Amino acid sequence: MALTSLWEDLHPYSEPAAVSVGGEWDALVIGAGITGLTTATLLARAGLGVAVIEARHVGAGTTGRSTAKVSLLQGTQYSRISRRHGDGVLRGYADANAEGLAWIARFCDDHGVGYQRRPAYTYATSERGASSVRSELDALRKAGVEGVEWVDEAPLPFPITGAVRLADQVQLDPLELLAGLRAEAVGHGVSILEGARVRRLHGHGPYTVETDAGEATAPLVVVATNMPILDRGGFFARAEPARSYGLAYRTTSQAVDGMYLSADSPSRSLRDAPAPEGSLLLVGGDGHKTGTSGSELGHLESLRDWTREHFPDAVETHAWSAQDYVPHHALPYAGPILPGADRLLIAGGYSKWGMTNGVAAALAIAGRVLGGHQEWASTFEPWKTHELSGVPDSLRINAAVALEMTSGWVRKIATHDDAPVCTHLGGVLRRNDAEDSWDCPLHGSRFGPDGAVLEGPATCPLRGHGT
Ligand SMILES: Cc1cc2nc3c(=O)[nH]c(=O)nc-3n(C[C@H](O)[C@H](O)[C@H](O)COP(=O)(O)OP(=O)(O)OC[C@H]3O[C@@H](n4cnc5c(N)ncnc54)[C@H](O)[C@@H]3O)c2cc1C
Ligand code: FES
Repeated sequence: MALTSLWEDLHPYSEPAAVSVGGEWDALVIGAGITGLTTATLLARAGLGVAVIEARHVGAGTTGRSTAKVSLLQGTQYSRISRRHGDGVLRGYADANAEGLAWIARFCDDHGVGYQRRPAYTYATSERGASSVRSELDALRKAGVEGVEWVDEAPLPFPITGAVRLADQVQLDPLELLAGLRAEAVGHGVSILEGARVRRLHGHGPYTVETDAGEATAPLVVVATNMPILDRGGFFARAEPARSYGLAYRTTSQAVDGMYLSADSPSRSLRDAPAPEGSLLLVGGDGHKTGTSGSELGHLESLRDWTREHFPDAVETHAWSAQDYVPHHALPYAGPILPGADRLLIAGGYSKWGMTNGVAAALAIAGRVLGGHQEWASTFEPWKTHELSGVPDSLRINAAVALEMTSGWVRKIATHDDAPVCTHLGGVLRRNDAEDSWDCPLHGSRFGPDGAVLEGPATCPLRGHGT
């Protein structure tokens, strides 16, 4: 069953015509989500000849399935960073996100893209959750985020034990934003080549990008595929793939008048979305590491049960699922894929906060290429010493990945399990019963029932499938 997000339903796409990839460019950007399209726009505005190579179509990745809160308040993300890094890094993260948010609001104002201003809340329903929210408030203050306040109550249909509130954040329709970015990019001469999956990259500059629809060359390549598809740099080993679920509902009353995320687990996210016949309620959460759940459908059902309990009049209109990557060192990365590779750049690892972080990453990359300077950009830099703070987590998590790899193969051989094997690095895939896909528990590659790559670092279809 393909799960379609509210946004995908609002913006149906027609299958792109077969493209042919070729030529020499100033810059090639791989991936047409918020990161890739913003990067391409910034580079093209500066006069570079840019092509975007997209495996499927604009917005086919996580951006088209995002809850699309564009917010400086981000659940408990600041305390997560604060546990691993000093106050300077924390302030850099806040500044990056403030710049990302301001850039999006300005872009929407200038290009007629709709958005709404809403207060954001990180709330708790238990004493333990309240203590996490208090730590978050401390971290936000250390980060210099102005206007955050503690509130004992929030306009929700269930009691809370406290919340942090930040007024005047933004929510939008991410595919409307991508349509605006696409038009801006194309207006500045960008070629958007959809339906071409990058398989490999050769050389050390200029680079030849090999796709299933031809190859193109450029001295500058930006890999904006969420999880980098190239094994250089080993980024797949530095972040955990995290899947979560989204539901949209018609409601008889005002859905909710803010953007909410729980500090308690399982996570619960709420926002509204304006619709012609009144606002829709969006409910999200119940996340887990990709390919490790006994039943993905079970997570969707638990989100449905929770909504039935608290919003009994709500009528479901859409259900979907999406995935983002959570780096072990808790910071996004935007910069060289390897030390010194100044013209082979990557961006991603947004821990489910890629609307502001994706734009900030694009600004950092454009600044690096074009000679601009943002104080906060070093916070996102891969291969900086602050990244080493994630090494103990990486070692622990990669030991778990290695164990998963071994146990997957033991299970496969001992039980004559015919589960297919991931074309990335050989993980034994698990069936996802919500989406009829094969998901890899190692680094999050996913494959459709026909074997085609849906997402993740894999670039080739399942063996024995022709796609
Ligand atoms: C359930 C959920 C809810 C979220 N809610 C929020 C939120 O409220 N606020 C927020 O800020 N963030 C949120 N996020 C996170 C945010 O949506 C993402 O971080 C962001 O959209 C990532 O954008 P991207 O452009 O980097 O990646 P993507 O949007 O995934 O784009 C990458 C593109 O690369 C393409 N690609 C992949 N491999 C190849 C290849 N080999 N060749 C060519 N193209 C390729 C893909 O098809 C895709 O189109 C959420 C994430 C999830 C999972
Ligand atoms: S995604 Fe890396 S082995 Fe499957």
